[in-house]
Amino acid sequence: SILILDFGSQVTQLIARRVREAGVYCEVVPFSQGEEALTRLRPNGIILSGGPASVHEDFSPRAPQAVFDSGLPVLGICYGEQAMCAQLGGQVTGSDHREFGRAFIEVVSPSKLFDGLWAPGETHQVWMSHGDRVDAIPDGFKVIAKSDGAPFAAIADEARRFYGIQFHAEVAHTPDGAKLLANFVRHIAGCEGKWSMAGFRAAKIAEIRKQVGTGRVICGLSGGVDSAVAAVLIHEAIGEQLTCVYVDHGLMRSGESEEVVGLFRNSYNIPLVHVQASELFLGGLAGVTDPEAKRKFIGKTFIDVFEVEAKKIGGADFLAQGTLYPDVIESVSFTGGPSVTIKSHHNVGGLPERMNMKLVEPLRELFKDEVRALGRELGLPEAFVGRHPFPGPGLAIRIPGEVTEERCDILRKADKIYLEEIRKAGLYDAIWQAFAVLLPVRTVGVMGDHRTYDSVCGLRAVTSVDGMTADVYPFESSFLSAVATRIVNEVRGINRVVYDYTSKPPGTIEWE
Ligand code: XMP
Repeated sequence: SILILDFGSQVTQLIARRVREAGVYCEVVPFSQGEEALTRLRPNGIILSGGPASVHEDFSPRAPQAVFDSGLPVLGICYGEQAMCAQLGGQVTGSDHREFGRAFIEVVSPSKLFDGLWAPGETHQVWMSHGDRVDAIPDGFKVIAKSDGAPFAAIADEARRFYGIQFHAEVAHTPDGAKLLANFVRHIAGCEGKWSMAGFRAAKIAEIRKQVGTGRVICGLSGGVDSAVAAVLIHEAIGEQLTCVYVDHGLMRSGESEEVVGLFRNSYNIPLVHVQASELFLGGLAGVTDPEAKRKFIGKTFIDVFEVEAKKIGGADFLAQGTLYPDVIESVSFTGGPSVTIKSHHNVGGLPERMNMKLVEPLRELFKDEVRALGRELGLPEAFVGRHPFPGPGLAIRIPGEVTEERCDILRKADKIYLEEIRKAGLYDAIWQAFAVLLPVRTVGVMGDHRTYDSVCGLRAVTSVDGMTADVYPFESSFLSAVATRIVNEVRGINRVVYDYTSKPPGTIEWE
């Protein structure tokens, strides 16, 4: 296995994901718990992640000395490389030449890290994100690649099997990055590569049984893939100790509630309570326009409803949620420290301290496509597993401004037409997520001989691998015109349709 020590990078879990893709089991642990994890896990190799700190700052994080004394191969990425250099006698300085984004490195020496991949003299695209840089490398190291901004873009001490790279091999913008990481875990650390989703399923089932014991678990179904996969996995682990609760907040898309309830009750025979709570949610949202206030209210109300339901069914010791890694990272850094809050994700942000159930979150390390693979592994129907993601706060965050029942109804109609057309055109599976938003803007139009003064509907469609970054889906303009025509003709309350052409970053996928 591989131990990943986290220094707080936004993309640490991508390292874990690449290691899994190479067929190797790994765990991500905050750097401060590195020593304990080394003893417990007895890994074949260690990866030090990037992070937002600077090695010059007082109290900036360091890897435990045990990492370098262990005799194991170590790969430091970005801040991980800098920490390694600082700790082993090299020098790191602040640099005027900061590098963010795409960069090119030149390979200057062969290395086991590059075996079968990169040869000296070649230039390769990588993704950089650093201010500091290494200026002198510790004894025993040599430079194996350089870039304009980073003369020590990659370094190696082949004898001790210590490697450092300034660039982020784990992100998709380093095209050979996954292979490079596979080289480290398979070729250098000697891991076998037998790990698979079936292995994950078995390991998680054991973990859930151990965590839960004879306790009772209540699982919130959101209607999406994540909570459904979490519920089926937990059901497989502990059977009747699990009860699912589907809180219908009235912010679902058309037909969605019926589908979820049908799947659980009929196909899986999992005990399910269907709570109709739309009045509570819509009532509380009256007058609320701030996106974070909406998210926090919905998150908190969700938990409130759960507590009531948990008591009704005789109490539960655990609350299960389908929280995924992108939800975790964008709400709060993995190390509890330095990464910035972009949005309070429903599953994490609104969680009140007072809640007296413990959390079971078996998908916490996974990315969306890995959850889908796990869902298939568990036998969930393809049509369900392949569904586009849907946010916990539902349509509330697709209606900028005040959310009312009337506006939800208008949006549901437009969204339904948009998705019908996407399916009809055979594009559903090529798109990561497509949805309509209803804007708090009214514009003037003309229909027949009448003036109209109605709302604007925005259409969004993106491609993505993991929800962390996204590109706009490039529809044919004839497709968009057809959708716009249908929406304006068929949905009373909308007289104008626009298409959102913003990628993530700088936009986010949802509008709020
Ligand atoms: P953003 O808008 O942050 O969305 O780019 C990234 C992905 O996460 C989904 N999303 C959520 N999922 N609870 C969820 O379970 C939430 O509060 C939430 N907010 C956004 C979003 O639909 C996209 O797939």
